[in-house]
Amino acid sequence: MNDILKQRNIGNTKLKNSLIMAPCCMYSAKEDAKLTHFHFSHYEARAIGGVGLIIVEATAIEPKGRISDKDLGLYTKEQAQLHKQLVQNCQSYGTKMGIQLAHAGRKSQANDTTPVAPSSIKFSDEYKQPNELTLDEIEQIKESFVNSALLAKEAGYDVLELHGAHGYLLCEFNSPLTNKRDDIYGGSLENRCRLTIEIAKEIKEATNLPLSVRISATEWSDGGWDIKDSIYLSKELEKVGADVIHVSAGGNQANAKHMPKLEPLYQADYAKQIKENINIPVIAVGLINTYEQCQEVYDRNCADFVAMGRELLRNPNTIQYFLQKENQKNSYQHQYARAFY
Ligand SMILES: Cc1cc2nc3c(=O)[nH]c(=O)nc-3n(C[C@H](O)[C@H](O)[C@H](O)COP(=O)(O)O)c2cc1C
Repeated sequence: MNDILKQRNIGNTKLKNSLIMAPCCMYSAKEDAKLTHFHFSHYEARAIGGVGLIIVEATAIEPKGRISDKDLGLYTKEQAQLHKQLVQNCQSYGTKMGIQLAHAGRKSQANDTTPVAPSSIKFSDEYKQPNELTLDEIEQIKESFVNSALLAKEAGYDVLELHGAHGYLLCEFNSPLTNKRDDIYGGSLENRCRLTIEIAKEIKEATNLPLSVRISATEWSDGGWDIKDSIYLSKELEKVGADVIHVSAGGNQANAKHMPKLEPLYQADYAKQIKENINIPVIAVGLINTYEQCQEVYDRNCADFVAMGRELLRNPNTIQYFLQKENQKNSYQHQYARAFY
């Protein structure tokens, strides 16, 4: 069997294949930040489609952590009840379920919210001026991450993902361009990464669930966060128990000067460089859309898993085509067997 359909583990969770649905915000929740009928149909369709792991979209750990008023949240028992139902429904198709726990930081555009950030620096003119977090507020955010992780565990999630990418709160702390603090959470690389590492450690200790951390490998800007920093962070995350590093890029600067051309596998070499420096698996993501492109990721030894975002939005049954390519009729969703050619 070829790499794409190979069963692999994230921590002690075995995925039936190596294809992951990347977290993709659907901006379809109401004010209460609860799952809606749409989310059930959307995620169940991808579960029936056969991906190994679904990572549910960025889900806020507190109301201020929402990117918009339509984001999901996981900070109340009532929200968790609905997640439990979603998880059970999707798992019944053999798909493992993950959830991305997130705080939007200065990129929150939720109404009635003054965003918070490591330092009071706006993302761009279209965004609000954030308040600089106090040390007490940082402690509260850490507690909210752990609370949310525990609710996710109660809901039955197999894997947790910490959102440390794309210019949201943790990514803002990591970058020297958005973190100008002079306390233990700012200054040196070690200090800037402290919050991400502390939260990863606390979530792992509190839940003992397999933990993915999504990072931006670079912010493509002079003097900014780069791949060397990402290798340092990944090594530290491995030490505190992270089970996989999910390697994305960008999102912390509105007009990143050195952003590359967006072409297939444009982020895969960052995953490769990180993989070469750590002993836990790595997920590659970013314009990896076809069977052949997935295979190239494995042939070049860039990653252990491929995550897909937009391709799975276009076609929830992508993996069924991959099964056909490998003539694996037995793994094909049985109700669709007559569609196998
Ligand atoms: C509609 C949409 C929503 C997204 N929401 C999230 C999100 O909630 N969390 C996240 O880390 N990335 C998010 N992303 C980024 C994707 O997870 C993925 O990294 C990106 O789309 C590149 O992969 P792709 O080329 O396979 O789509 C989103 C992307 C899209 C298109």
